Amino acid sequence: IEITAFPDNGQSISGMTIKEVVEECKLFYLAGTETTSVLLTWRMIVLSMYPEWQDHAREEVISLFGKEKLEYEGVNRLKTVTLILYEVLRLYSPAAAFFRKTYKEIKIGGITYPAGVLIELPLLLMNHDPDIWGRGVHEFKLERFTNGISQASKNPSAFLPFSWGPRICIAQQFALLEAKMAFCTILQCFEFELAPSYTHAVDNIRLMRPMHGAQIKIRAI
Ligand code: HEM
Repeated sequence: IEITAFPDNGQSISGMTIKEVVEECKLFYLAGTETTSVLLTWRMIVLSMYPEWQDHAREEVISLFGKEKLEYEGVNRLKTVTLILYEVLRLYSPAAAFFRKTYKEIKIGGITYPAGVLIELPLLLMNHDPDIWGRGVHEFKLERFTNGISQASKNPSAFLPFSWGPRICIAQQFALLEAKMAFCTILQCFEFELAPSYTHAVDNIRLMRPMHGAQIKIRAI
């Protein structure tokens, strides 16, 4: 994208308008902050519910890095932490749905849609569909991802926490790396458990988040 010059009316002569650039910046900010923080929150909640997996994950992190700063090579060797990340993304995907609008008549799955139809892909429902994930779909089961994402479900393309196609999350790789690094750093420094006041419920306003907040007791180690 080339932005060449900006006359007084704020429009570029070629490329994007100032308004479009501002909108893109806002999108980056909004799409990039709460998604990651809400995912981190769910992981702390889930691993508070499954302390044995919290211990396994911490052992893995300590065995690779000790209490030292993380480095990129080691992050790529994390197995348990990666399985936890995928399974939490499945159970509590920050994006519960995404939408597409037909811009011309199109046939999908034998049905013809006119232009202007809004189509919702209900990620939350897909991630909890026993026809896709089998029995125990609502359970936290890391084994399902042991042989990779494509083998985890009956449909190799069913796992879409970052969407798919031309509008796939532009930051997917960065977000996965960031999510692992932040989580590993927390595991290195803290043990955590749910506070008695925590009530498990999911809210879905814009993003999937804990409805009543995440009251977690944290202990430095
Ligand atoms: C766990 C973290 C994240 C998740 C689950 C996530 C998920 C998603 C999803 C599902 C979409 C597609 C929405 C659609 O198809 O309508 C999307 C788009 C996008 N995401 Fe992420 N995202 C995450 C982190 C980030 C981060 C850290 C950034 C930026 C630094 C970011 C920037 C974007 C942008 C700019 C788009 C729009 C791409 C486009 O429309 O071409 N995301 N994200």
